Amino acid sequence: MKCFSLWLLAAAVTAQITYQNSSGTILRVDNGTYGPEIEEHHYYYDQWPIGLAVSSTGRLFVCYTRGTYAYTLGEAVNKTAEVPYPSAELNLPPSALNTSFNGIPFGSSNATGLISVQALYITPQTASRPETLWVLDTGRPTIINAQGTPSVPYAQPGGPKLIAISISNNSVYATYTFPPSVHYPDSYMNDLRFDLRANVTSGGRGVVYIVDSSDEGRNGFIILDLGTGESWRRLTQHPSVLRASNDVPSYQGHPFYQRSIGMPIGHLQEGVDGVQISPDGSTIYYSPLTSNYLYSIPSINLLARDSDPLSEQAAHNNVSNLGQRGGNANGFEGDSNGLIYQLVPSHNAIFYYDPRDLQTHGYVRDPRIIWPDSASIGADGYFYVNINQLPYQPMWNDGVDLRVHPGAVLRCKLPGGGTKINTLG
Ligand SMILES: *[C@@H]1O[C@H](CO)[C@@H](O)[C@H](O)[C@H]1NC(C)=O
Ligand SMILES: *[C@@H]1O[C@H](CO)[C@@H](O)[C@H](O)[C@H]1NC(C)=O
Ligand SMILES: *[C@@H]1O[C@H](CO)[C@@H](O)[C@H](O)[C@H]1NC(C)=O
Ligand SMILES: *[C@@H]1O[C@H](CO)[C@@H](O)[C@H](O)[C@H]1NC(C)=O
Ligand SMILES: *[C@@H]1O[C@H](CO)[C@@H](O)[C@H](O)[C@H]1NC(C)=O
Ligand SMILES: *[C@@H]1O[C@H](CO)[C@@H](O)[C@H](O)[C@H]1NC(C)=O
Ligand SMILES: *[C@@H]1O[C@H](CO)[C@@H](O)[C@H](O)[C@H]1NC(C)=O
Ligand SMILES: *[C@@H]1O[C@H](CO)[C@@H](O)[C@H](O)[C@H]1NC(C)=O
Repeated sequence: MKCFSLWLLAAAVTAQITYQNSSGTILRVDNGTYGPEIEEHHYYYDQWPIGLAVSSTGRLFVCYTRGTYAYTLGEAVNKTAEVPYPSAELNLPPSALNTSFNGIPFGSSNATGLISVQALYITPQTASRPETLWVLDTGRPTIINAQGTPSVPYAQPGGPKLIAISISNNSVYATYTFPPSVHYPDSYMNDLRFDLRANVTSGGRGVVYIVDSSDEGRNGFIILDLGTGESWRRLTQHPSVLRASNDVPSYQGHPFYQRSIGMPIGHLQEGVDGVQISPDGSTIYYSPLTSNYLYSIPSINLLARDSDPLSEQAAHNNVSNLGQRGGNANGFEGDSNGLIYQLVPSHNAIFYYDPRDLQTHGYVRDPRIIWPDSASIGADGYFYVNINQLPYQPMWNDGVDLRVHPGAVLRCKLPGGGTKINTLG
């Protein structure tokens, strides 16, 4: 024993290599990176972002879930700042985001003002539509009571909505709301993808696929016909869309449990979150945030209406489990080569599923990717991704904000000359 201690002492005096400083090591080291060069495209110094969308000319639009934030939709005006978009007035003030009925908290029912925008998507200009920024408002802000306990009040019809903004004249030109039989009070619309081909539904104006990721409610798909304004659900409570219980991912090497004031230590509860459409519109890829599995379903099964008595059974029968991917994933994107990108916070990485070889591959990994939250492929062939340090937000850390400014938009080149999906519309 004594002899061993002496040897340790000698080693400490002569060697420079410790576990905190391996710069002189002869051992193989994981440097934490692979993939194309990453550029730091934009910095967030004020509100922490959630979703983003990049236009055909490189305009960068960002959304922020609310809360206490002054606005929920913005446009970057330079490398370090964003301003409310299209106007500050379109935002309900923080004091008007929620209400209550018989002691039950509800979100606002205002169908024109913005409440809490979760996701954005830009579709290109077509003969019948301007280049459009689609804005998905959950109608469910995060409120914090006098004890400091955060909660997300139930939605009222009107509050949850999809707004279409022409980015050439910066004006809202269409608004869609949902009946309570489609958007439940505890639904939470998390992301959306479009098929704007006129023939995809009878409405003749295309369709949008929306995921209901609700932490507490019935997960599933909401499908909206942009021509008729009708909406319906599919795959509600199917195992492939449900939150996975007791999920413990690791972020920056630390196992993660959710810690919220006023609640026992728990786990993330989000169901179906990532969604992507194939370039030909035939397939929808998706997965719950708290699961390691990727799934797909033919679009035709989501498009089937309730008037078809076999619509739900056929949808269930046609779900494909595409296997594990090596970690949880939140947002998805897809490129013109048909690759399905998935943001993987537990690996500080972005993976992609390739339908040609049926496998998931690493695309880019970097220690700066601390919770990649939402991605947007530009017409310039770049992959843009929001970095928002979400596991360090106060809601998940006993009310303490451990995030460090700035947040960021990172970007890197797509492989194989990939670019934005352009066959839709
Ligand atoms: C780490 O070790 C190298 C030599 O292996 C030394 O040059 C360097 O100063 C050390 N860094 C720190 C922070 O101690
Ligand atoms: C990190 O390691 C990978 C894999 O060994 C290597 O390809 C890459 O060049 C390394 N990057 C840096 C910055 O050293
Ligand atoms: C960026 O825009 C903000 C908001 O308009 C402004 O306050 C700031 O001075 C600008 N910064 C630079 C470097 O131009
Ligand atoms: C909104 O929620 C906050 C926090 O729970 C509460 O103090 C406030 O009274 C609510 N507003 C209305 C109008 O109910
Ligand atoms: C809805 O919100 C908008 C934007 O704040 C506001 O102009 C409008 O008056 C509100 N409508 C109602 C019915 O409160
Ligand atoms: C903006 O463009 C849309 C779509 O082309 C159009 O419907 C709307 O009337 C325009 N609004 C304004 C204020 O020009
Ligand atoms: C729908 O329209 C697209 C072009 O937008 C075309 O390629 C496709 O074949 C059409 N599908 C059907 C079933 O007609
Ligand atoms: C898959 O969906 C199609 C279209 O609704 C349907 O015809 C087919 O029967 C479904 N497959 C199964 C195995 O149910």
